[in-house]
Amino acid sequence: MNTLSDPTVAELLEHLHQEADAQMPELRKAASNMTEGNGESWTEQLRDFYLPVNREQGRFLYQTVRALQAKRVVEFGTSFGISTIYLAAGLRDNGGGVVIGSELIEDKAETARGNLSTAGLEAYTDIRTGDARQTLSDPGGPVDLVLLDGGPAMYTEILQLLVPRLRPGALVIADNMDDEHHPYAKLVRDPANGFISSSITLKGGTEYSVWVGLPSNRP
Ligand SMILES: C[S@@+](CC[C@H](N)C(=O)[O-])C[C@H]1O[C@@H](n2cnc3c(N)ncnc32)[C@H](O)[C@@H]1O
Repeated sequence: MNTLSDPTVAELLEHLHQEADAQMPELRKAASNMTEGNGESWTEQLRDFYLPVNREQGRFLYQTVRALQAKRVVEFGTSFGISTIYLAAGLRDNGGGVVIGSELIEDKAETARGNLSTAGLEAYTDIRTGDARQTLSDPGGPVDLVLLDGGPAMYTEILQLLVPRLRPGALVIADNMDDEHHPYAKLVRDPANGFISSSITLKGGTEYSVWVGLPSNRP
C-alpha cells in the first residue's frame, strides 16, 4: 500500500477536491468580475479559492517524487495544500524528505498546515508564509523537484532564484504554461540556459523541464 491509498489521506484528498470542484461556478463568476487597479491583487481577490491541481496532476506529482527518489521538493503556490499532500505522500513513501511550500496569504498557509496535519504528513513539510521571492531564497539544500503553481508571471523570477540549488537531473514542473511565447517557456526551452524542456498534456499545458546544467559546466 502507498500513502495515496491510506484511507485518511485518500478521504481527505477526495474531500478537498470535492470542495474545490464545488467552488467552480463561484470561481468563474469571481474571475469574470475581477478588476485590476482596484488596490487588490488577483491573489487577494482569489483568496478563498483552492485553485488546485486536479486529481490526475496530483497522481503525476506523486509518481514523479517517487521516480526521482526525491528528498527535497520546492513548491511555489501552496494554497490550501492539495498539491503539497501529493508531494509529501511521495516523500513519505521514499523514506523521508521535505516539501518546502510557499503561500502569500497567511490564512491559506495556516489551513494548508492543518490539512497536512490531518493527513499525517506535516513532518514532511515546511510551509513558508509570505512572498515566495523571499521565502524560497534558501531551500536548505539541493533541490530534486520544483512545482511552479503560483501564477506564471513570477515563474521566471522564482526559477532564477532556485537554479543554483538544483541538483543535476532535477525536474521543474510549471502548471498553466500553455504559451510557447511566454518568457518562462522561452527561457527553459533555450538550451543555453541549462534545461531540456517541453510541454506535456496535463490540464491545458504543463512545462516539463529537466536541469542538465549550463553548457560550460557540462562534462
Ligand atoms: C494555483 S494556487 C496553488 C494551488 C496549489 N498548488 C494546489 O494544488 O492546491 C496559487 C497560490 O499561489 C499563491 N501565491 C501567489 N503569489 C504568491 C507569491 N508571490 N508568493 C507565495 N504565494 C503566492 C496564491 O495565494 C495561491 O494560493
